[in-house]
Amino acid sequence: MNKNYALVLAAGKGTRMKTDIPKVAYPILKKPIIEYIVENIEKSIIDETYLILGYKKEVVEDIIKDRAKYIYQEEQLGTGHAALQAAPILKDKKGTTFIIPGDTPLIWYKHINRFFKTHEENGNDLTVVTTYPDDPEGYGRIIRNDQKMIVDIVEERNANSYQKEIKEVNSGIYLVNNEVFFKLLKDIPKNPVTNEYYITDMIKLMKKDYKVGAYTIKNSSVVMGVNDLYQVSKAEKYLREYINKEHLINGVSMINPETITIGHNVTIEPGVVIYPNSTITGKTLIKENSIIGPNTEIHNSTIYENVLAKHSFIYDSIVRENSTIGPFAHLRDNTEVGPNNRIGNFVEMKKTKTGKKTTAAHLAYIGDSIVGSNVNFGCGSITVNFDGKEKHQTHIGDNVFIGCNVNLIAPIEIGDNVFIAAGSTVTKNIPSNAFSIARSRQINKDDYARFLIKPKKEE
Ligand code: UD1
Ligand code: CA
Repeated sequence: MNKNYALVLAAGKGTRMKTDIPKVAYPILKKPIIEYIVENIEKSIIDETYLILGYKKEVVEDIIKDRAKYIYQEEQLGTGHAALQAAPILKDKKGTTFIIPGDTPLIWYKHINRFFKTHEENGNDLTVVTTYPDDPEGYGRIIRNDQKMIVDIVEERNANSYQKEIKEVNSGIYLVNNEVFFKLLKDIPKNPVTNEYYITDMIKLMKKDYKVGAYTIKNSSVVMGVNDLYQVSKAEKYLREYINKEHLINGVSMINPETITIGHNVTIEPGVVIYPNSTITGKTLIKENSIIGPNTEIHNSTIYENVLAKHSFIYDSIVRENSTIGPFAHLRDNTEVGPNNRIGNFVEMKKTKTGKKTTAAHLAYIGDSIVGSNVNFGCGSITVNFDGKEKHQTHIGDNVFIGCNVNLIAPIEIGDNVFIAAGSTVTKNIPSNAFSIARSRQINKDDYARFLIKPKKEE
């Protein structure tokens, strides 16, 4: 039975990026390029996916895990050589393979399906996806004969001045008949200029005996290749505009949307308002009527209804309905702020869960804590969770008043209805209904200050 396969060429270093991580692992809107491709392949009519890996393969494997099968290209001798590594596996598999460079983040599954349809309808043995970008620089140029049939692809660095004027370029995406393509692949010659094997030379090789066609895609951004950090910024800009438009049309308000970045896997309900310079990424859900920003970063988090979060960082956390976060608050590491909380200026919360109507309005650190409802953290209160070696838990009941500058030395348990005096350093558990004070008594020495304060000279 015929099947549909995908072959992603992702073994290269990406030298032009001038970064250490492999190009295909580079993030766009905080998500690796390769993940966009694999995600869209998964949504398409493709049955099986193979990745060609080489440079820092473990980095890519760590991102994709078991969502694809891996084939290794030990030495990167060009795109033709990369595809050749898959020949032993794919040449005997009846069907069509969609070949795509690993640096094409904006590909969309609906286009993939259309490519397959055209390839099959035209009965091609090889279909090249071509396009007309605003700036064709860096792309292979499409050479057509008098009958407008595609006969060759010439890389920019090998092109003469006449060929460089051609505006139609190779997207690097091909659909191929496995039996024919992977049998002929070993015959591609080494390019005499670069000593590489170009997959593009398959056009000439196959043209003699097989049917080669083209699919020209209008929106060239969808197939744009990302080779350097400038192109990363272009892809990011395109994706940002595209995603923001979808949210705006869906009823999400944005003030200065060009300064707002929303990732690919973010869900925002209508009625949410987003203020400038905010970034919402990862697997995030924002529920209706919440107000986000300005200057707020939210990643992998869930924000319930009517939350107000400004000038704050919320990472891997949950904020329940009607709570306010910030200005300048930092929630991280599975923090869960309960409903109607107020987490204010310069408050950091880590691995902490709070009940209803709890307040930490200013200058507090609350870490590794389970906190009840109606708890008030005074200004400067701290859960002292780290003893230099290990982290410890703090448990706080309901209706607890924690005075200013209180240190709760963990592990510690505070009962319900407790009142802790300001300035206390609490080292022992406090039972419910107790008042606790843990600071030295004040002594006033009458008239003593004159020994300590230099008298002012009389003029
Ligand atoms: C390639 C095409 C060019 C096309 C452009 C579209 C060739 C010779 N050129 O050029 O015609 O216009 O894509 O974006 O094919 N890779 C490997 N192993 C290698 C070399 C590359 O796996 O030995 C992978 C890279 O990781 C990358 C992809 O193949 O993801 C494309 O390689 P790249 O060097 O970016 O090709 P371009 O110069 O952009
Ligand atoms: Ca490229």
